[in-house]
Amino acid sequence: MKKRILSIFVTLCLLVVCLQVVAFAAEAPEKPNVVILATGGTIAGAGVSSTATVGYTAAVTAVDKLISNVPELTKVANVRGEQVFQIASESITMENWLTLAKRVNQLLAQDNVDGIVITHGTDTLEETAYFLDLVVKSEKPVVLVGSMRPGTAMSADGPLNLYRAVILAGTKEAAGKGVMVMLNDTIHSGREVTKTITDRVDTFQAPIVGALGVFTGDKPVFYRQSLRKNTVATEFDVTNLTSLPRVDIVYHYAGNAGTMIDAAVNAGAKGIVHAGTGNGSIGKAEYPAVENALKNGVVIVRSARVGSGIIARNGEANDDKFGFIASDNLNPQKARILLMLALTKTTDVHEIQQMFWKY
Ligand code: SIN
Repeated sequence: MKKRILSIFVTLCLLVVCLQVVAFAAEAPEKPNVVILATGGTIAGAGVSSTATVGYTAAVTAVDKLISNVPELTKVANVRGEQVFQIASESITMENWLTLAKRVNQLLAQDNVDGIVITHGTDTLEETAYFLDLVVKSEKPVVLVGSMRPGTAMSADGPLNLYRAVILAGTKEAAGKGVMVMLNDTIHSGREVTKTITDRVDTFQAPIVGALGVFTGDKPVFYRQSLRKNTVATEFDVTNLTSLPRVDIVYHYAGNAGTMIDAAVNAGAKGIVHAGTGNGSIGKAEYPAVENALKNGVVIVRSARVGSGIIARNGEANDDKFGFIASDNLNPQKARILLMLALTKTTDVHEIQQMFWKY
């Protein structure tokens, strides 16, 4: 009799334990699968001492070490890394962009990938982000992350930025918001963000329009969304591209007489982004070079060196007469990216102007 009671008791205990395990499994949310694509930059940088926040070497720490340095990542996602390049981002090439975009598209097409984080140098991070924003063919989250201090520095900002970027890439609410940038507690749109300060952790800003959202603790909170078309809603496809049309940026300044425009044309530029003064002004002495460029079939976009604001069409130049394109609110480096992609589709300036209103 005693034996029977004991066996019923043990069976009941086992049942309770089993029920608890099942209930826990049902309650515990499945972790998202996030791939970290590493490309180098300060986030993978190392200095000679903990106080070296300048004069360090960028792009030396491998992706596996970046991941193992933040063991908390395994609590918020199933993470794996790939080293795509190991470079300082001022040296990134258009071929690098195409390689990266193709890899992102391959990974996001897989059911077992929920989101992607790209570790990147901050110098050209905004350019890679906007390029991907235009050519990624998925609504799954893609998040670029960098840091302003190398991993060896006191108060290095990379580990927390990376931790939050992984959370963001695994967050369902982050889907469909275009390619994002995550640094310094703040979530930005890849189209709108720009680096504004050479050496501070609050360098990334989206002038006039502001951030998409912020992090509070482990939680991303969104406040707005860019209305410009991106990712699956663009006409750009890099699948069969091995290069991009050459587009140069020419900076205007007092006393400039068009020498750099001539140089760009002679170097074979298919497009020129003119970083004009004020509202995209072109100096009188530049016009002979501008007209020669147009005669050679070079497409000219008017942007501004000011850093923010809209270029008014037919405002500071007669865009209709010359066939210029106004860059809307894209800064010169972003206008260059859209012009390169536009030139893979058409050289018609009216169609290209429409793209600048749309993207
Ligand atoms: C780089 O852009 O690769 C170097 C600078 C940085 O990451 O902050």
